[in-house]
Amino acid sequence: MATNAEFPPFEYYDGDEVVGIDAEFAAAIADKLGMDLKIEDMAFDSVIPAVSSGKADIGVAGMTVDPDRLESVNFSDTYADASQVIIVKEDSAIAGPADLEGKSIGVQLGTTGDTYSSENVKDAKVEQYSKGFEAVQALTQGKIDAVVIDSHTAKEFVKEAEGLKILDEPLTEEEYAIAIAKDNKELMEKINDALAKL
Ligand code: ARG
Repeated sequence: MATNAEFPPFEYYDGDEVVGIDAEFAAAIADKLGMDLKIEDMAFDSVIPAVSSGKADIGVAGMTVDPDRLESVNFSDTYADASQVIIVKEDSAIAGPADLEGKSIGVQLGTTGDTYSSENVKDAKVEQYSKGFEAVQALTQGKIDAVVIDSHTAKEFVKEAEGLKILDEPLTEEEYAIAIAKDNKELMEKINDALAKL
């Protein structure tokens, strides 16, 4: 399993172990299929290449199904709903998506928050960080105006930081699924089957 363990509550470190919803969920699937699970942590934008090149069998990384990714990999049935949300400082003048215009926005490199901000926010200065939490730290330090990131992870990060809030209006609606190599139809069927049972 290729993942990027910088994404609580889906995958993160507890000591030197990668834990979280995806890790538990993948372990449950492997168990159902009588397979051993080995988790490989890597940069988020390496997860799809790892799967499409066969270096990893599955990518489980709170990964949103999107048309660009579907050109390189297949996705299982979906297992969670999410959205991109905006994090700002508590006293920020940014009150909703329209106020992002012309602002500096921190994102995790290669995520849907990155693509959304780059493609949909007029005159945005998109700052790409290798970890989502680094974007949140930059926001706390006043280096950027906002962070765009997945809703569930935003909640975890805001709990850990001082003086930040999540705006109510989401930017997108997304669904997470497991990425599998296009030529691995057999594993896809097995995983969807296990998913349905779980
Ligand atoms: N859902 C977003 C995407 O697919 C962000 C996922 C980030 N996941 C991670 N493990 N860092 O682009």
